[in-house]
Amino acid sequence: MCGIFAVSGEETKAGEMVLRGLKKLEYRGYDSWGVAVRTETSGSIDIAKEVGKISSVKRTFSASSESMGHTRWATHGGVTKSNAHPHKVGRVTIVHNGIFENYEAWKKKLVGTHHGASVKFKSETDTEVIAGMMSEQITRLRDNEITSKKISEIIRKVCAEIQGRFAILVMVEGVPGIFAARRGSPLIIGRGEKETFIASDIPAFLERTNVVNYLDDDELVYISGGKAEFSNLRTGERVKKRNVTVKWRVEEAEKGEFPHFMIKEIFEQKDTIARAINHEDKMLVKAAKLLHSANGAYFVACGTAHKVAMAAEYFFSEVAGRKINVVPASEMPSFEKFVNKKTVIIAVSQSGETADVLEILERGKKRGAKILALTNVESSSIARMANVHLPIHAGPEKAVASTKAATAQMALLFLLAFADSNQINFGRFVLRSTAASINDLLNPRYEDRIRRVAKRIIKHDNLFIIGRGSLYPMALESAIKIQEVSYIHAQGFAAGELKHGPIALIEKGTPCLVLGDDQETVSNATELKARGAFIIGVSPTKQSVFDEWLRVPDCNGAQAIATIIPVQILAYHLAVLRGLDPDMPRNLAKSVTVK
Ligand code: G6P
Repeated sequence: MCGIFAVSGEETKAGEMVLRGLKKLEYRGYDSWGVAVRTETSGSIDIAKEVGKISSVKRTFSASSESMGHTRWATHGGVTKSNAHPHKVGRVTIVHNGIFENYEAWKKKLVGTHHGASVKFKSETDTEVIAGMMSEQITRLRDNEITSKKISEIIRKVCAEIQGRFAILVMVEGVPGIFAARRGSPLIIGRGEKETFIASDIPAFLERTNVVNYLDDDELVYISGGKAEFSNLRTGERVKKRNVTVKWRVEEAEKGEFPHFMIKEIFEQKDTIARAINHEDKMLVKAAKLLHSANGAYFVACGTAHKVAMAAEYFFSEVAGRKINVVPASEMPSFEKFVNKKTVIIAVSQSGETADVLEILERGKKRGAKILALTNVESSSIARMANVHLPIHAGPEKAVASTKAATAQMALLFLLAFADSNQINFGRFVLRSTAASINDLLNPRYEDRIRRVAKRIIKHDNLFIIGRGSLYPMALESAIKIQEVSYIHAQGFAAGELKHGPIALIEKGTPCLVLGDDQETVSNATELKARGAFIIGVSPTKQSVFDEWLRVPDCNGAQAIATIIPVQILAYHLAVLRGLDPDMPRNLAKSVTVK
């Protein structure tokens, strides 16, 4: 969702630096952007903002050593220049990620009470109301009372009134430095030698430093030059933070020789699947023990991670004889009455920040449930809430469409199913050979072959996918991949459900992806073909019913992991052939931090 980036240091080109950093956060998804700089000469805070993409923006700002910026994904108010952040009221400039749920009541209160004069709100956003609340407090002070200490106090007071999750950054005219506070939305502090950064994700400042402090919920930080002071957002007490050196390398967060992040990340699966299972046995045993202790377990996840969880439901059933319920996080409220202190909630989330998942975990914790989490970001909110956290080690995933994180999650969950039945070594053996055959598969010739198949179906507006067993969730995931980047209407079905409705949609030439080559699925493919469908098989063996065949290795029970890879490549090429940017699909965001 929104991206936030700020710097305070010795630089005199802080505005340009913030613009560069925001470009690195583009992958989070956004519709407008804005930058505020504290001008060196007058000390005033100047704002530039626009609707549209930031990638091609080239501009200069007034000389400044302090700046903050924002990429907005609209929630309150349309995509307009006036709704873009930063927002300024009086001396206060602010950028914000999250939702201020009770902003309307505060907006009403503020109009007419702003030190005798009404606040004229210029936008429809909840964010501007926060700036108004702070500004209203500042106007009650004499000039010599306006200090960084006082501003921290005001931020604490205002944040106490906000219902909902947020991350905010505040600059105040006349007070050097930048303030930031969080409750539920990520903020990371980058510690350079002479400069300090605040960002919603590490790639924004990775070229300058890999030493970070993670701001926790209900914490406030005040940065100025090379200094950062942390305090508790509720009590004001000082908080000591640990410097953490992150292992991400700059190249991992860059496209390198690849035209897009999506295809780079698809090819990284040569390594990431093997990396995902590189866990000490004792961590897997600990996670398995948690499952053993449970009386009722639920996977909660969203989007692709939810389809991964559905595949894992099959892994656990087949390998460990355990039934785990799978519920999209947004639907879990209907089942919360079954959650108690014997329940284990298994959260699967690439970002570890998805709001719907976080909310279920918070409420589950209150009911005494234990949490097992798989995420790609060890410092994420979900990881930190978990009783047991298993990182998937996929490295930064920047394309909106999740690829390498999904297969890494599946590999780790597959291994966990084996750990659950005391067969870690055998699970590792199966996954290592799966990783090795995927390594052999992923080469330019294979990609070329899939590009040719994409060309054959590019003109079609509808596409259907079928699969059985753990390939059924992969049929659903295939549909997501194709929809989100190529905008082709794609739908996945359980192969056996075909005759109960979907087959009515098949016309002459309708492309259908058939995942798997088991006898029943092949006969479903034959039924499709009899109605005129164009069949693309994705399987270890070639079948005569296939018009096109995308080979995948035979991976035993881990077939779901291998099968999704050619579909990811197909989705990518469908998008590119349609002239679309697969990394930044319309209306979507990488990390969905609002409900
Ligand atoms: C968004 C992303 C998807 C992702 C989903 C869940 O919709 O576009 O790629 O699967 O959120 O995100 P998470 O970070 O929790 O895995």
